[in-house]
Amino acid sequence: MTKHELPKGMIRATDTTGTHEGYMPGFGNDFETEALPGALPQGMNSPQKCNYGLYGEQLSGTAFTAPSHQNERTWCYRIRPSVKHSSRYRKIALPYWKTAPHVDPDVISLGQYRWDPVPHSEDRLTWLTGMRTMTTAGDVNTQVGMASHIYLVTDSMVDEYFYSADSELLVVPQEGRLRFCTELGVIDLEPQEIVILPRGLVYRVEVLEGPCRGFVCENYGQKFALPGRGPIGANCMANRRDFKTPVAAYEDRETPSRMTIKWCGQFHECEIGHSPLDVVAWHGNYCPVKYDLKTYCPVGAILFDHPDPSIFTVLTAPSGVEGTANIDFVLFRERWMVAEDTFRPPWYHKNVMSELMGNIYGQYDAKPQGFVPGGMSLHNMMLPHGPDREAFEGASNAELKPHKLDNTMSFMFETRFPQHLTAFAATEAPLQDNYIDCWDSLEKKFDGTPGRK
Ligand SMILES: [Fe+2]
Repeated sequence: MTKHELPKGMIRATDTTGTHEGYMPGFGNDFETEALPGALPQGMNSPQKCNYGLYGEQLSGTAFTAPSHQNERTWCYRIRPSVKHSSRYRKIALPYWKTAPHVDPDVISLGQYRWDPVPHSEDRLTWLTGMRTMTTAGDVNTQVGMASHIYLVTDSMVDEYFYSADSELLVVPQEGRLRFCTELGVIDLEPQEIVILPRGLVYRVEVLEGPCRGFVCENYGQKFALPGRGPIGANCMANRRDFKTPVAAYEDRETPSRMTIKWCGQFHECEIGHSPLDVVAWHGNYCPVKYDLKTYCPVGAILFDHPDPSIFTVLTAPSGVEGTANIDFVLFRERWMVAEDTFRPPWYHKNVMSELMGNIYGQYDAKPQGFVPGGMSLHNMMLPHGPDREAFEGASNAELKPHKLDNTMSFMFETRFPQHLTAFAATEAPLQDNYIDCWDSLEKKFDGTPGRK
């Protein structure tokens, strides 16, 4: 038997993965990928000379000394080192993209708020000019907290590139299809998918089908990770294999281009003479990843009562306080409701965490009206909220047969920090002035006599 011959009767797989062409499955894997054969050094990271005349460069996503189970870095083999994708910077204004701390003295953030979808603009907008900050929390300079944004994008970035030194971006599209051409490969994104763009990753955003609208969570803190499942065990919720990272793809293009950098809440740009998307091969675990929300396997009540919404956590970004997230990304999707003798929608509550929700499609069970696809709501730290009267009466009197919650996909960015509204959210975005009236008609049922009313 020669070295590569299999034992008699053994059949080798011809297709090693069920993932889509152009992507590699897994979350937090140590990936390796090369767009040209032999471009990736084997057995070492920094050879004296790299193949094809490439430059070796490390992109560090954690401190060099981070614990090994958290340590993230990627080795890139590129046409030019990143110092060539940088020159003298000048500051530019992107007035709608705000960064914490940003507390507008004229805005009241205390209150239950809900917005209709921010309408598409008449203006031509790119990923950068179309970003509209709704809330900010924490402090970018100490790398805690987050911002929530709506993006309205009509136009592709052309010879224009961007990275955020401040943050990792979690993108939740609601309308339209986008393409993220990144240093580490190409990701196409459509509604019901999400993408995570790591801090420091250079990319260009193109419109595949517009106009595009969606939500962004800008995470200033520690990276998003999968939550521990505890007693749930090794499966369900978001499974690692359903995350997809792109294979290497590069551009060798000499053309005057602009690089924009978000750094400490300020925007800077410089001119370069070529595309910075020039990574021919890479290996590592610090990389962009997309995820199809339809693969999220919800776990919930199967006899009675109601678990906390943390049961629906897709991703969690730790804050340094154990079990208390800088941000949880939580998904409310189609599922069966089967609990007996139970008020099935979310209960009334006050929460030390601040909850920003968005509707991707369909109808949310605690608010049958008014929280529409593309819309958002904010229930800030320690502000009471819960089902409106219609939801309360409906769920209190419904015959409790197994019921499929269908045609529904909403999410929550939940942070331990209070969220401050921007002037855009308070005055320009379509705020529903009458939202707090949804609890007005809840009646007092108590009259001192026992029995269920
Ligand atoms: Fe809540």
